[in-house]
Amino acid sequence: MIINIAVIKGDGIGPEIIDGAIDVLKKVEEYYGHRFLFKEVLAGGSAIDVTGEPLPKETIQVCKECDAVLLGAVGGPKWDHLSGELRPEKALLSLREELGLYANLRPAVLYESLKGASPLRDELLSNGIDICVVRELTGGIYFGEKGRNQKGKLGEAAYDVEIYSVGEVERIAKVAFEIAAKRKGKVTSIDKANVLESSRLWRSVVTNVAKQYVDIELEHMYVDNAAMQLIRDPNQFDVIVTSNMFGDILSDEASMITGSIGMLPSASLGYGSKGMYEPIHGSAPDISGKNIANPIATILSAAMMLRHSFKLEEEANSIEKAVEAVLREGYRTADITSAGMKLVGTKEMTKLIINKL
Ligand code: NAI
Ligand code: MG
Repeated sequence: MIINIAVIKGDGIGPEIIDGAIDVLKKVEEYYGHRFLFKEVLAGGSAIDVTGEPLPKETIQVCKECDAVLLGAVGGPKWDHLSGELRPEKALLSLREELGLYANLRPAVLYESLKGASPLRDELLSNGIDICVVRELTGGIYFGEKGRNQKGKLGEAAYDVEIYSVGEVERIAKVAFEIAAKRKGKVTSIDKANVLESSRLWRSVVTNVAKQYVDIELEHMYVDNAAMQLIRDPNQFDVIVTSNMFGDILSDEASMITGSIGMLPSASLGYGSKGMYEPIHGSAPDISGKNIANPIATILSAAMMLRHSFKLEEEANSIEKAVEAVLREGYRTADITSAGMKLVGTKEMTKLIINKL
């Protein structure tokens, strides 16, 4: 099978972690006899440096032509002075929209051997943690009207509009219920319906969609309570469905209780099989170029790509099992290490995983 993969390395640690994921995919290719064709394109800060814009037309074109997109992360202090359309992060938002990727799946799974890396007490982890955050990705406040005006209450003001339509909530809710049907059968919809009108619409639409899924338990929760419940008792969650911004924030929180943000992969999906796969973290400029970034979130994102876009279940499993085996042997990057563990760098961790495949 020939598979075309658009690759956006991005900024900061992006190139280091993507190189690792590509090496893992090359091993899978060799072992299983597939053919992966990687097409590297620019987006984010590195694209701004070369072309003057965060998302060149060629990048959009190549991503549309390929079967899937593998992405590192974009952004960094070098481009922080830029605003609006010129920001590196704009590349991601536009690409998600261009490709129609409205559903962002972020599985937060605690590896047995990483219990020591979680900040939570052992008793809270005894049954493991396995949460799937389903974040709406092309709507809400990140895409609403924004602007500035001179007539604020106390000087210049700025605004961002949170807006959701029935269809946008329906389709993301369906994704969440379908996923829950294959898991423990529970959906927690997270909103702020006690304050926000957009959340009240969200809540009523999710309640309606639930009528098509009588076997799934639906619970509604306010986002502030959810932030607390994730720490108090993470095991109560199975599938979380929430808006773009709440999902962004809560999935960082969920990642930490599984050990590190460097562990969490994600898949962004839309109508077709095409998806974009990336770690949930950013470009981590504070550690870039030091060979200390954890490549696992990106390697697991590549596994998600094989599973969701290409139905290569066995290949995806083999990557996940290799990661698990290396962790079980006590190898750790700096973000997940603890006393008695074997500290390794980005390249070494990648090699260990490849050797286990
Ligand atoms: P970040 O996720 O890049 O980093 C947060 C903290 O986690 C840092 O201390 C970093 O060193 C650590 N970290 C992140 N990934 C790690 C890994 N793989 N291994 C070990 N430690 C890791 O978030 P931050 O610092 O808020 O943002 C940095 C830049 O990244 C900003 O320009 C931001 O806009 C951008 N960003 C890009 C995203 C994307 O491309 N999808 C997502 C989030 C942020
Ligand atoms: Mg984020």
